[in-house]
Amino acid sequence: MGVRVVGVAGSLRTTSATLMAVRYALVGAEECGAQVEVLDLAAYNLPFLGREQERTAVMAVERFLTDLRGADGIILGSPEIHGSISGVLKNALDLTNRELFEGKMLGIIGVAGGRMGASETLNQLRTIGRSLQAWVVPTQVSIGAVDEAFDSRGEPADQEIGERLKLVGRQVAHFARLHKCENHLQFMKDWEGAVGTDDRGQSIHAGR
Ligand SMILES: Cc1cc2nc3c(=O)[nH]c(=O)nc-3n(C[C@H](O)[C@H](O)[C@H](O)COP(=O)(O)O)c2cc1C
Repeated sequence: MGVRVVGVAGSLRTTSATLMAVRYALVGAEECGAQVEVLDLAAYNLPFLGREQERTAVMAVERFLTDLRGADGIILGSPEIHGSISGVLKNALDLTNRELFEGKMLGIIGVAGGRMGASETLNQLRTIGRSLQAWVVPTQVSIGAVDEAFDSRGEPADQEIGERLKLVGRQVAHFARLHKCENHLQFMKDWEGAVGTDDRGQSIHAGR
């Protein structure tokens, strides 16, 4: 079963560490057999929310939404900016809707300049993912002291961080595949049709 996993980094900088982290997580998804792609926000030239109907903006938004629509799994990375996710990523997500995320696997990565890491960003990404009805995978990565986190080739300086980034990618690809497979769909049908009895001997239907 083929799955497609895309990565989105909430930074427009050409030397973005967040983009490096997302790329590395996609390596994990690829190792798990997924077809992967980075959706580079710098290349879409997205408008601010509220301006998406303007003539020059419509195509850019449509292109971004189409690229997201074709994904079974999505990895979101954000720099921590003033204790929050970046405005760049928030605005891009504000232009999307639940239909594009519902039932899809979501991996989350936070990147911070400070040594304390990006836990605020991760909590916010998890909340946004839940709100969009995505399935946020359990493993997440917080990268602190980002200036020392990647070498000149964009490889993680710390092997443990590298492995964890790849694990996020692997989980997204793995669960996306399970979620799509025939056995899972049959299991869900059986589950929803299952009938049991409660402690008074009354029939109860699991799917209701
Ligand atoms: C305006 C601004 C605010 C920032 N606020 C925080 C912050 O609250 N906490 C933190 O740890 N790092 C903060 N940083 C550092 C960024 O998280 C860090 O530089 C990150 O690597 C930028 O991501 P990028 O390389 O993908 O663009 C801030 C950076 C900028 C430019």
